[in-house]
Amino acid sequence: MKREPAITIRRVEPRDAEALKAIFDSPRSMAGTLQLPYPSVAMWAKRIADFPIEDVMLVAEVGDDLVGNLGLHVAAKSPRRRHAGAIGMSVRDDWQNRGVGTALLAAGIDLADNWIGFTRLELTVFTDNAPALALYRKFGFVIEGTARGYALRDGQLADVFMMARHVRADLRRDDGHRGATTARKPAPRVHR
Ligand SMILES: CC(C)(COP(=O)(O)OP(=O)(O)OC[C@H]1O[C@@H](n2cnc3c(N)ncnc32)[C@H](O)[C@@H]1OP(=O)(O)O)[C@@H](O)C(=O)NCCC(=O)NCCS
Repeated sequence: MKREPAITIRRVEPRDAEALKAIFDSPRSMAGTLQLPYPSVAMWAKRIADFPIEDVMLVAEVGDDLVGNLGLHVAAKSPRRRHAGAIGMSVRDDWQNRGVGTALLAAGIDLADNWIGFTRLELTVFTDNAPALALYRKFGFVIEGTARGYALRDGQLADVFMMARHVRADLRRDDGHRGATTARKPAPRVHR
């Protein structure tokens, strides 16, 4: 039976570098994201210090143990993409499948929906990452397409799904496992 630990969500602090390093020292967390092996405390300390002010990194704690993190980023600099946020997340291997990802993503989506006003949240996920796909679908993310050979993972170029969560219901079409669809080209609009 799934255990239900008391999970606290808070913003990352400088003191968290060691715990973040430990998350990405765990093989599934490293391989499921775009992190490299051999993370260091110094690297994570610098990442925390350099984290852009407009982005948010949340962490999940069970007791004193920091077991997961979620980054909510402005997806692009263009003012025309102000509505879009990007998410990346990870839970330390020994804490996966115990509700930590659910708690982190619920908090990230609350921030995005109710405090920042992102109407599109986007992410990439390896196509064979079943727990992550289940989690994202549970929160309304849909598959918008497949990027083939997107990232090197243990010697193989692996595919990812591009997923997004839309506030606007008319944009929530799931392209399932069919991969990218060929969209009909819209008629050009002429500006005078
Ligand atoms: C993906 C990840 C963040 C999810 O966090 P988590 O704490 O394990 O997530 P939760 O326990 O809250 O939820 C996992 C869900 O996946 C489901 N699940 C687990 N294994 C599954 C499988 N093999 N097939 C289908 N669903 C599965 C669980 O039942 C649960 O759904 P439920 O809450 O409806 O029961 C975590 O597994 C992780 O860090 N993985 C490695 C790094 C990674 O892949 N990051 C995401 C990059 S896109």
